[in-house]
Amino acid sequence: MGHGKLRKFAENETFACLVQPAAEEVLSGRGREFALKDHPLKGHWNEKMFDAPRPIVLELGCGRGEYTIDLARRNPDYNYIGVDIKGARLWRGAKEATLSKMGNVAFLRTRIEFIPAFFAPSEVAEIWLTFSDPQLHHENSRLSSPLFLKRYREFLAPGGLIHLKTDSMFLHQYTLALCRENSFSILARSEDLYSEDMAEPHRRSSPLRGSPPFSGANAGLCGQPYPPQAEARETRRARLGGAEALSDAQVDAIFEVHTYYETMFSRQGYRITYLCFCIGTSDDILSPSSFDADYWRSVEGPRHSVALPDL
Ligand SMILES: C[S@@+](CC[C@H](N)C(=O)[O-])C[C@H]1O[C@@H](n2cnc3c(N)ncnc32)[C@H](O)[C@@H]1O
Repeated sequence: MGHGKLRKFAENETFACLVQPAAEEVLSGRGREFALKDHPLKGHWNEKMFDAPRPIVLELGCGRGEYTIDLARRNPDYNYIGVDIKGARLWRGAKEATLSKMGNVAFLRTRIEFIPAFFAPSEVAEIWLTFSDPQLHHENSRLSSPLFLKRYREFLAPGGLIHLKTDSMFLHQYTLALCRENSFSILARSEDLYSEDMAEPHRRSSPLRGSPPFSGANAGLCGQPYPPQAEARETRRARLGGAEALSDAQVDAIFEVHTYYETMFSRQGYRITYLCFCIGTSDDILSPSSFDADYWRSVEGPRHSVALPDL
């Protein structure tokens, strides 16, 4: 392991906003037989981790926590928790929250599979899934699969929103089909958030916005500068299909916050998609029977994994 990572791990131990539970704190049992047990923070995040009680929003698979930090700055009336398993990525968000003395931000280092151990029923108001790995061949590892949605439902308040922002057309279409299969309310959606052509964004099937995908380090979006230009809020709402259920602040955040992975894939020419939905209360959540996984895998094509410089 490099010195940079070791230094970050050591500094992580000093951040009051970062919770890093040991496996024994959330698992009981031995070997392959284990069960989740409640973490002491379950049901107590507001009193123990933040400077005031407020509705709680999670960012799952937050990486460096761009949404967690930015949303917390924009919305001081909410508390935010970024969750990821990678300590070196969480370091960046936790460092920023610490330096800026943010009282409405926390980070949790854990596997999202264990998330029900950390939150009590109705403790969470909203969930963001930001550029999650599409898990093309492993539905049960997909963060918007029935398995994960059932976990989230254990602690999401009734009517709580799930926001999915992704560069993966496969993941977008899969989650959309799942919402339709289960009659979940879809509150906002775009297959191409930053499209130049407002009239036709839903007709194209390729996830790439023109070819070739690479046209220089700072290019993307069909040669448009990245990040994209600000637009009037009505234009943004039109791109989302109206999005009447979302506040102005929520709409602005969808367009204005750009994560590390969003920046990387946008510069490669991939379209950025967004879906906001509300899970229902029926007992079961079904996999989407109409989803053509082979087709959407072929549309997705190979990805170019070119990391951005670690600024
Ligand atoms: C593609 S990255 C996106 C990071 C960030 N949201 C962004 O947009 O830049 C996916 C992140 O999810 C995390 N992740 C994936 N599966 C996870 C799991 N089961 N539990 C915890 N973290 C997970 C990874 O560690 C990684 O940081």
